[in-house]
Amino acid sequence: MGEVVRRIGLSLGADICWPLCFEHIMRGLDLRIPVGGDTVRFEVERVTIEPFDLQQPCRYDLVVDRLTHWYHTSREWIKKSILMNDLYVFNNPWSVQSNEKHTSYCAMMHLGMPIPPTWMIPPKSYEPGNPDLKPTLARYAKLFDVSKLGDKLGWPLFMKPYDGGGWRAVTKVDDAAAAWKAYEESGKAVMHVQAAVKDYDRFVRCIGFGPQTHCVLYDPDAPLHDRYTTRPEADFLSPADREHLRKVTLTINAFFGWEFNSCEALHKGDVWHPIDFANPCPDSQVTSLHAHFPWLVKAYIRWTVFCAATKRKMPRNLDWAPFYEVAARDLPYEDKLDAYARIADERLETARFEEFCAKHLGHLDEVAWDFFGTSEAKEAVRQKVAALFPAQEIEAFTELFWSRIGDWRRQNPKAR
Ligand SMILES: Nc1ncnc2c1ncn2[C@@H]1O[C@H](COP(=O)(O)OP(=O)(O)O)[C@@H](O)[C@H]1O
Ligand SMILES: [Mg+2]
Repeated sequence: MGEVVRRIGLSLGADICWPLCFEHIMRGLDLRIPVGGDTVRFEVERVTIEPFDLQQPCRYDLVVDRLTHWYHTSREWIKKSILMNDLYVFNNPWSVQSNEKHTSYCAMMHLGMPIPPTWMIPPKSYEPGNPDLKPTLARYAKLFDVSKLGDKLGWPLFMKPYDGGGWRAVTKVDDAAAAWKAYEESGKAVMHVQAAVKDYDRFVRCIGFGPQTHCVLYDPDAPLHDRYTTRPEADFLSPADREHLRKVTLTINAFFGWEFNSCEALHKGDVWHPIDFANPCPDSQVTSLHAHFPWLVKAYIRWTVFCAATKRKMPRNLDWAPFYEVAARDLPYEDKLDAYARIADERLETARFEEFCAKHLGHLDEVAWDFFGTSEAKEAVRQKVAALFPAQEIEAFTELFWSRIGDWRRQNPKAR
């Protein structure tokens, strides 16, 4: 019986705001959690980037990782530390590296999710210098007319990279001429051509963090800082819709070993069509999340503390078989989704997590609510705004995002 420390590493890139809030709130919580006869305390540190010995120990129990998807040295350090030092990270880095949007579409189509019909097309141009390229294409590449896909899938359609992210090279294509133009401009990228969900009535982004989910009504036509609308979930989702999106998101996340990911879905008729759900480690910045930012910071803390305190085992392998077994059953989609979600809830330990939070993190809401009224919190917002906005706009945008956090505090007095 004694005091043990779990060391949490924050592996960060351009992040400014949420880590500051995370660190402040963790200090304010001053956790001492009894686990198996010990008292568990937490230390939070920022991970540095430096040469490493593949056999060196790892000082962290858990790393909150924001770099794997693009900074390869950190990704490889994380892979080494999972394999050799029992490190826990939220998103399986092998899965982040290999399962792009295309794979996520195929897998979830197989599970029965109503993803819009999607084709893949060979690229318009190629990296020069490969002597095999010419004979391969000359022998086997069939000429095709990209505009014919519009006739098959219906207009408009979306042309977008098979490994998309961040709205890069996404084009809405209205007719044959526009399809040719978009294809000409796609260069070396391997593209999808996807039927549009036309006239949808809601676009929702559901953030999943461990077993926690939060849905935001999204307006893709608004300027960046207004795309996440401020409307509370209950305003635009019935309890049944809310539960449906929770199940969809957790199914995807459990399938791919992504514990922090978001799922975009479009609602039309009675159907939620997921369109973009390979976003491991999604946007966490106050400059886009504003009123939703406190939820996200709290979600980071809860899942971090739960995983580190309980020494939850990092699932090193993906296991798709149980999902495929459900998919093969002769059941309506909603029943299959229930079964997928049961697998997800089991893998993410939903019940144990909720019990843990009620027992050990009962004061988080109050500590966070207080923190989001302090000058330190406002300074975190200001620093992020200052990093992104031109000098003459810093003041106005800091006030805007800060006022939305203030609205969140007023609308959620029960969080005290
Ligand atoms: N099938 C579709 N139907 C309607 N809108 C779509 C469709 N696919 C993409 N879009 C629009 O294009 C945007 C970017 O596409 P998305 O697949 O989310 O790519 P990214 O991975 O770059 O975010 C979406 O947010 C949505 O507004
Ligand atoms: Mg998207």
